[in-house]
Amino acid sequence: MKMKQISNNNYKVNGPYFPNVRLRRLRKTKALRDILQETRISSDDLIFPLFIEEGLKNSKNITSMPDIQRIPPSKIVNVVSELLDLGIKGVIVFGIPDKKDIVAHSAYSEKGVVQKSIQTIKKNFGDRIVVISDVCMCQYTTSGHCGIVKENTIDNDSTIEILSKIAQSHAQCGADIVAPSAMMDGQVIAIREQLNEAGLHDTSIMAYSAKMASPLYTPFRDLADSTPTFGDRKTYQMAVTNTRESLRELELDIKEGADMIMIKPALPYLDLICKAREMFKLPLCAYSVSGEYALIKAASEKGWINETDVMIEFLSSIKRAGSDIIITYFAKKMAKVLLEK
Ligand code: PBG
Ligand code: ZN
Repeated sequence: MKMKQISNNNYKVNGPYFPNVRLRRLRKTKALRDILQETRISSDDLIFPLFIEEGLKNSKNITSMPDIQRIPPSKIVNVVSELLDLGIKGVIVFGIPDKKDIVAHSAYSEKGVVQKSIQTIKKNFGDRIVVISDVCMCQYTTSGHCGIVKENTIDNDSTIEILSKIAQSHAQCGADIVAPSAMMDGQVIAIREQLNEAGLHDTSIMAYSAKMASPLYTPFRDLADSTPTFGDRKTYQMAVTNTRESLRELELDIKEGADMIMIKPALPYLDLICKAREMFKLPLCAYSVSGEYALIKAASEKGWINETDVMIEFLSSIKRAGSDIIITYFAKKMAKVLLEK
């Protein structure tokens, strides 16, 4: 290979210089850059979280989550049609019940807020939209914990029985995918067996497999009214520092029968998304959580960053790391950007 030492006023280098290679050639025009774009986001990749509050009459704003609302059951149809018009094909449903108790009864009641919401969506839109249901107890327990409290600890085995009932009730109402998020050991296999026994073989499980005990969930807890009344979630959610342990969680959920796996939050765990993509063949979902959204919103409100550009950068990084699907509060905004492109 021919190399030449150069040293002139325009372009000084000390090492070898390859005069034929100029990477900037490929960045010359927008059209060229568009053609060569390696990572693309499509509205097909995006899942929008829905928060439905029982008994609510008008949509309610939540200060820490600008532009995201709790919606009343009566508005579900409007909200979902808007999503479909934007090209979004999936929602994850969270319920805010009007009654909480120690066993989260309202989470698996036939007439629960999520159960009724799923029925409404499926009755109006059928298979045009994929309905994912969050399977957990924290919005429904007086403790705000994701499981049954026994002697100040969260009891694993009695919790997974309830999670199975919740999952079955969602599946019976037409949920396409149930997504257990309580981080209890054995929750995936317990739910799979319960679904099978009920003849619900075609309901998929998306496991919140590597769910960290992250401080980025704070705005979500305002939105979903699910702040724990004592302690924290560190005895069931993962330590933010642990990669190998996360991989064990993912591996175990796959063995237990998960159809898809999830990593949550997204942005601080791109390393893990990248590793999981290489190691496992299942569809991989990343949940870009409330705090990730709130950081961008807050800085852009102050005029310190450009919201749209940072949103695109963050979502692209999650895709680039290897996620197939992204749950994001920016789903609508991103879909609009894609439509306008
Ligand atoms: C709990 C649950 C959490 C989120 C979704 N389901 C977190 C938690 O309270 O521990 C967080 C999502 C977000 O922050 O956007 N089952
Ligand atoms: Zn929970």
